[in-house]
Amino acid sequence: MGGKADSTAMAAAWAALRALSHPTLADLFAADRDRPAALTRRIAWPVEPGSEAEVGMLIDFSKTHLDEAALTAFEALTAAAGFDGLREALFGGGIVNPTEGRAATHGALRGSGTPAQVDEAEALLARMGMLVEAIHEGALGEIRHCIAIGIGGSALGPALAIDALTRDLALVDVHVVSNIDGLALEQAFRACDPQTTLIALASKTFTTTETMTNAQSALRWLAENGVDDPGGRVIALTAAPEKAVEWGVDETRVLPFPESVGGRYSLFSSIGFPVALAIGMDEFGQMLAGAKAVDDHFRVAQGRANAPLLAAFCDQYYTRLRGCQTRAVFAYDERLALLPDYLQQLEMESNGKSVTADGKPVDGPTAAVTWGGVGTDAQHAVFQLLHQGTHLIPVDFIASIAPGDDLDPAHHRILLMNCLAQGAALMAGKPSDDPARAYAGDRPSTTFLVDDCDAAALGALIAFHEHRTFAGAVLMGINPFDQFGVELGKAIAKQIESGEGDFDPSTRALMTAAGLA
Ligand code: F6P
Repeated sequence: MGGKADSTAMAAAWAALRALSHPTLADLFAADRDRPAALTRRIAWPVEPGSEAEVGMLIDFSKTHLDEAALTAFEALTAAAGFDGLREALFGGGIVNPTEGRAATHGALRGSGTPAQVDEAEALLARMGMLVEAIHEGALGEIRHCIAIGIGGSALGPALAIDALTRDLALVDVHVVSNIDGLALEQAFRACDPQTTLIALASKTFTTTETMTNAQSALRWLAENGVDDPGGRVIALTAAPEKAVEWGVDETRVLPFPESVGGRYSLFSSIGFPVALAIGMDEFGQMLAGAKAVDDHFRVAQGRANAPLLAAFCDQYYTRLRGCQTRAVFAYDERLALLPDYLQQLEMESNGKSVTADGKPVDGPTAAVTWGGVGTDAQHAVFQLLHQGTHLIPVDFIASIAPGDDLDPAHHRILLMNCLAQGAALMAGKPSDDPARAYAGDRPSTTFLVDDCDAAALGALIAFHEHRTFAGAVLMGINPFDQFGVELGKAIAKQIESGEGDFDPSTRALMTAAGLA
């Protein structure tokens, strides 16, 4: 990234970090019972626009192994990596994606950027809002369903937000379809009435094979089911508006977003159109407000006071100093069931790199493998390995203090009790004379508690992880905003399609077996 990292100072800071000793969590709590006070952060936002009253989320890092020595050493690394300058460049429209010569302006989408970028984002959002409201008012006829077609960053955010925020009510019933496997689109067709279905076509580049193929099939489905003007039912969400028009979408139904917004950072752009359609513009605005509260915190908080940066310290500590190859995220909330999938793309596509921003080999592991699931289900499936397996896996627990359900309060109490119990058990462990029944303990976790899992909290969680990912990239000296690693497979798929390529014998045999040669 184009910043003021000092590679010699960074190498020295990493050397100091690698030389640290690693006290156990029990030692750390024995030395300081007030660890939770020192290592819990809270980020808050107004209950509603203009309100004095606040809600928010707290993040308790005290069950991680960060101690004073590690925090001080990570703060030295932060300075050596030029974090302040790079953070300023991020929000100031500087080139933070040097391999593509681009800024990364996702912050501007929620008001955190240069005045020009924020004005542009607000104008685009207003345009989206007008279209959403016109559709709700019947401008395109009766619209009850929307098939939102996109993949990767053009699908995972909308899918997460719609699943999280429409449990009680959806103004429009949205189905996000990403996979090229026709089964995915067929499933959406079965759930929708073609006469009242809108197609939202989400693709930053407007060239992605899966998306364009699914789009053609969706138009065919509309036509075959008696819709007179299938093209009139398409809304395009893209950073390549000219390609959408060329493809046949009327200009009035193209919602553009800036090229400088990366796919996995694009939920708050027009890529969020299906979300706005489902929840309405006011709720969408709440999501932006939650994200903005995290931006405001991340932009000014220094060192360990900065919660996303502190989370990045944890990530670096476990991957680079303790050899952890994965990190797990468990949402103790059904509404966040898709959050681990979303974070997988955000973190692995951003920071799964082997070279630094200036093209040199990295001097340690980069992104961990992000995985996870939903509690309490996961307790009965994979937690055995977390408690007694041979891998050390840092875990994030995410829960809402307010329940999402209207059933007996016992449900939510048991959910929360289990969430807290798991963090406590992983840390404390339990000795036993019977080796099969012994728990080693000293296993780290971080707990996120949102006051309520609403639109603002979701926006805050997403922005938090965007900044955590960026901060981690800065500490490693890598560029989180490109993703060239996905290109080779796409190119070879095209060669297989054309039959022209120098295929290895295994692939050649498989092509024959699969009927592709
Ligand atoms: O193949 C990876 C990728 O480029 C992601 O980075 C992106 O989110 C996804 O494909 C979809 O791309 P597009 O929005 O251009 O269709």
